[in-house]
Amino acid sequence: MISVTSNGMIKHFGSVSSTNDIIKEMANGGAPEGSVVIADEQTNGRGRLGRSFMSPGGTGLYMSILLRPELSASDALLITTAAATAVAKAIEKHTGKATCIKWVNDVFLNGKKVCGILTEGKVSPDGTLEYAVLGIGVNLKEPKDGFGELSNIAGAIFEDEKVDRDTVANDILENFFGYYQSIETKPHYSDYIARDMIGGKNVTVYRAGEPLYDAKVLGISEDFSLVIDHDGKKENLASGEVSVRI
Ligand code: BTN
Repeated sequence: MISVTSNGMIKHFGSVSSTNDIIKEMANGGAPEGSVVIADEQTNGRGRLGRSFMSPGGTGLYMSILLRPELSASDALLITTAAATAVAKAIEKHTGKATCIKWVNDVFLNGKKVCGILTEGKVSPDGTLEYAVLGIGVNLKEPKDGFGELSNIAGAIFEDEKVDRDTVANDILENFFGYYQSIETKPHYSDYIARDMIGGKNVTVYRAGEPLYDAKVLGISEDFSLVIDHDGKKENLASGEVSVRI
């Protein structure tokens, strides 16, 4: 059983289309902040940039959390980056290995992506978030048939160990809500930067899946935008607009 640090409720499901969609419905029905949905399997798991997220049964943690923060929509990135840091720390606790975060919210272990995060939200007319849906997918074990076409980039955090999904979920929730209670002060910034894997690297910048140009990463600013050197000019890139590949 999970004992959560949030004030909401946790619902467990077997197979669902997407836990983010369930939390959205609950949010629109007035569910409280901290409500959590965990599913064994997703048939329509969704990722960033319109991609799908492989979510087979019994191998992953598929979890969504309802938040009602006092933040402007433009600060939603604080939630996503705090979640990535919370996941990274939980994985380190359970594996004893170091993790890295690839800007903006992919968590890597042993050079493979083991977690993806999709934050979606509803914006009020005044530009603040009415609610945010924080969706977290962690590959706990490799699926029986492997990761297929993703096998070069996707990995799992455990090999043969008996996986206690709810303990991992509980640790992620605890870490996340630890940051979330003072999220406007960016309490996770130093933990995030300590795990940054692209600082100093040469990357290709993509928009809508299309390569735009090559650049060198100078760092990550305090608003979590990516600071790059592009043809000798310093630029800040917002995560909503672009993605990068090393
Ligand atoms: C990505 O890597 O592009 C983000 C993947 C996010 C997957 C999680 S799993 C739980 C929640 N439900 C979804 O449909 N997506 C998120």
